[in-house]
Amino acid sequence: MIITLDGPAGAGKSSAARALARRLGWCYMDTGAMYRAVTLMALERGVSLDDALALAVLAESLAIAFRDGGVFVGDRDVSIEIRTERITAATRPVADAPPVREVMKRMQQRIAKGLDVVTEGRDQGSVVFPHAELKVFLTASPEERALRRHREERARGAASSLDAVLSAQNRRDEGDRVRAVGAMKPADDAVLVETDGLTQDDVVERLVQLIEERRRPRSS
Ligand code: C5P
Repeated sequence: MIITLDGPAGAGKSSAARALARRLGWCYMDTGAMYRAVTLMALERGVSLDDALALAVLAESLAIAFRDGGVFVGDRDVSIEIRTERITAATRPVADAPPVREVMKRMQQRIAKGLDVVTEGRDQGSVVFPHAELKVFLTASPEERALRRHREERARGAASSLDAVLSAQNRRDEGDRVRAVGAMKPADDAVLVETDGLTQDDVVERLVQLIEERRRPRSS
């Protein structure tokens, strides 16, 4: 079975997807991490971020895998390196490039084949897994998302103001929404889950409830 969890940054997707996968004993696929891994390798190998075809060739050559709770490129664990601000900023042209998205789509379908997977991203329900058994679009208000991120950054010792976090988030949201291919949008048959005021446990409970509803045989 495949469950897709899409939505904007800061809606609580990653933590909910990870917790849900753990609870079900399923695989967890973080597709944002895959775009980040391609970006990291492009910067390291000097592939121009403006060259969509070269980026796609690079993406195709990478063995990206999820193992031991981390993201690997070949034998190398890149889980920490892909989270830096430098990579976050540079992923935009990589994720915008249609040939890269095509390669990533096929790679994601290959990874999920035959498995029970919770997959998380922007286009998982709308493009990559149109036949997923359950599609969820997780949202929260921009203010709540920025507040969560601001708290996380402060806990890590970073000092940007709440206003700066909100503006950067608005720019990223806009980039995700207007992308020509793979734009962030709920699939037509996605269930919208609004996470304002919900704890992570509340969100996971809601997702488990939705899965149970899907599994229950329909009367009539
Ligand atoms: O979710 P995360 O911030 O890790 O995503 C990293 C980048 O990859 C973002 O720019 C996001 O827009 C992009 N992305 C995407 N499609 C996905 C997942 C992430 O374009 N399925």
